[in-house]
Amino acid sequence: MTMEKQVPNVTFRTRARDESIPGPNPYRWEDKTTDDYFRGKRVVLFSLPGAFTPTCSTFQLPDFENHYAEFQKKGIDEIYCISVNDAFVMNAWGKAQGLKNVKLIPDGSGEFTRKMGMLVAKDNLGFGLRSWRYAAVINNGVVEKWFEEEGFADNCETDPYGVSSPQNILKWLKAPAVA
Ligand code: BEZ
Repeated sequence: MTMEKQVPNVTFRTRARDESIPGPNPYRWEDKTTDDYFRGKRVVLFSLPGAFTPTCSTFQLPDFENHYAEFQKKGIDEIYCISVNDAFVMNAWGKAQGLKNVKLIPDGSGEFTRKMGMLVAKDNLGFGLRSWRYAAVINNGVVEKWFEEEGFADNCETDPYGVSSPQNILKWLKAPAVA
């Protein structure tokens, strides 16, 4: 028997732009829940070790961004990128990447990642606790398909990337019975 995996209920502390706030930094706190992101939608969630890190910034995030229309055609409503980074860092990363399609979720406390069972130590890099690299197709809050990089471990010396790439997820979306 396979158990349905439901994404955990947490509150994310985001920073939302608000033009009514004067000055050079017109942002306010806006709490978003798991329900806000996942309820009633079929989404791709991908999780990575850190904003601004090379593989994530050069390949994974831009590739998801550029393949967005293809995901939409396969019935995906949203693509979310989550990382154990606070909202200030995630917003700065989104701006630096010129994101229009992928939405960033700040899991600064690591609560979502921990409850997903994906929190690992990256003390070997001076990072502290971060996310193992994984992705999932999630339908109305329930994991439909799981894509986890091999070798889940604390202080891993390598950073495997392939299974959770947009290309691999699209391959499955196009031919779910084969992949
Ligand atoms: C990378 O995405 O390239 C990366 C991730 C974590 C640590 C170092 C590099």
